[in-house]
Amino acid sequence: MAHSDKRELVLGIAGLGTVGAGVVKILTGHADLIAARAGCPVRIKAVSARDRSRDRGVDLSAYDWYDNAADMVEDDEINLIVELIGGSDGPALKLSQAALERGKGFVTANKALIATHGKALAITAEEQGAALRFEAAVAGGIPIIKALGEGLAANEIIGVRGILNGTCNYILTRMENEGLDFSEVLADAQRLGYAEADPTFDIDGIDTAHKTAILAAMAFGKEPNIQNLPTEGIRTIAPVDIEYARELGYRIKLLGVAQRTKEGIETRVHPAMVPISAPLAGVMDATNAVMVEGDFVGQTVYVGAGAGEGPTASAVVADIIDVARCGNSCPAFGVAPATLEPYVPVPVERHQGTYYIRLRVDDRHGVMADITAALAEEQVSIESMLQRGRATEGGVYIVLTTHLTAEAAISATLNRFTKLECVLETPTMLRIEAF
Ligand SMILES: NC(=O)c1ccc[n+]([C@@H]2O[C@H](COP(=O)([O-])OP(=O)(O)OC[C@H]3O[C@@H](n4cnc5c(N)ncnc54)[C@H](OP(=O)(O)O)[C@@H]3O)[C@@H](O)[C@H]2O)c1
Repeated sequence: MAHSDKRELVLGIAGLGTVGAGVVKILTGHADLIAARAGCPVRIKAVSARDRSRDRGVDLSAYDWYDNAADMVEDDEINLIVELIGGSDGPALKLSQAALERGKGFVTANKALIATHGKALAITAEEQGAALRFEAAVAGGIPIIKALGEGLAANEIIGVRGILNGTCNYILTRMENEGLDFSEVLADAQRLGYAEADPTFDIDGIDTAHKTAILAAMAFGKEPNIQNLPTEGIRTIAPVDIEYARELGYRIKLLGVAQRTKEGIETRVHPAMVPISAPLAGVMDATNAVMVEGDFVGQTVYVGAGAGEGPTASAVVADIIDVARCGNSCPAFGVAPATLEPYVPVPVERHQGTYYIRLRVDDRHGVMADITAALAEEQVSIESMLQRGRATEGGVYIVLTTHLTAEAAISATLNRFTKLECVLETPTMLRIEAF
């Protein structure tokens, strides 16, 4: 919708689950405030979901109902579609394409859709003079898309690092506070509604990867791309690693990282040892946080609720107001979409960092010599090495941290460790994130 011809923003909302119902609540509960901020009335005209009979805790009787969300774009009065269905393809993709091709604005909370089809959608939006907005897709209620696209627009971004998945942060927090195993906490989190029945997307890092791909695109002007984004989740984190982390002055967090390096733009998702003094280390439970470093602004940190009805709907409605105010005058990724370059990631082997390695080994003479020999062969230098008490499964633990080294050298060292007779199980490796 062009800024000059707006009289009213007329919405079709697809998806009336947690976020969709929340959006209806804010739009109806704050109608005057939103109209004042938008500069025009914002009216819901139509809604769509699968089950018309379901009670969603909101009164939908004044709105047209559509069984097929994509049909809403046929209504000429509707000038903005709000997609809160989810999924990278299927109905969400169809709806986004149909809306933008007709020049209607499109607001979504769908990270999978934007991480997968963001560039193509942004190009269509620009061609058709339509607005595309996705603030709620990353870190829920935290306005990080706006921060990157507008507030920090003067800077060359050096790096963006975030705790982007509340479920993982909740699980890690409880593992640390209660000394529990991953599987025990996951089962409890599912019972309490903090984790999905199928938690794969969350705990295997896929959700964080989608969000990281979007942040990388915003920060570095690259096409969002999850294809080559190295992704590890938190399944393998053991209480003993959480204890060692504490002893060494760290806390384990699942991080999404996109940063400028000498080799190029590096993106990665993995659990990491975060120094206890770093702001991200203090972010507990289901809270999200993002740290952005710009060349002129330095480090800025954004903390808040990354999910849930209120916070996520808050971000969606902010986008709706933004469309009313600015139309399509602000490109979705902060730059003209045609200039979003294909993203060529730095290969993992060339990532540089410091590392934590835990080995369970036989408690006998000569073991240390074998281990230090393997490290020397790969030219990995050790920052610290500690041996602590007996492991419950037999043997003893040796924990070491390295100086700065390439990930290729660490992989080669881990291979050597695995082949040693004295090493009793697959070594555990965690990256140490410098702040
Ligand atoms: N929940 C959060 O905290 C959160 C946070 C950030 C981003 N998001 C994103 O927000 C989006 C929505 O999430 P949610 O948690 O609200 O999901 P949800 O509670 O599962 O709701 C999904 C909604 O989509 C509807 N739906 C499914 N297929 C449909 C179709 N073919 N046509 C029309 N409607 C259809 C469902 O209808 P029925 O109700 O009739 O089944 C339901 O109302 C997702 O992209 C998600 O990633 C969610």
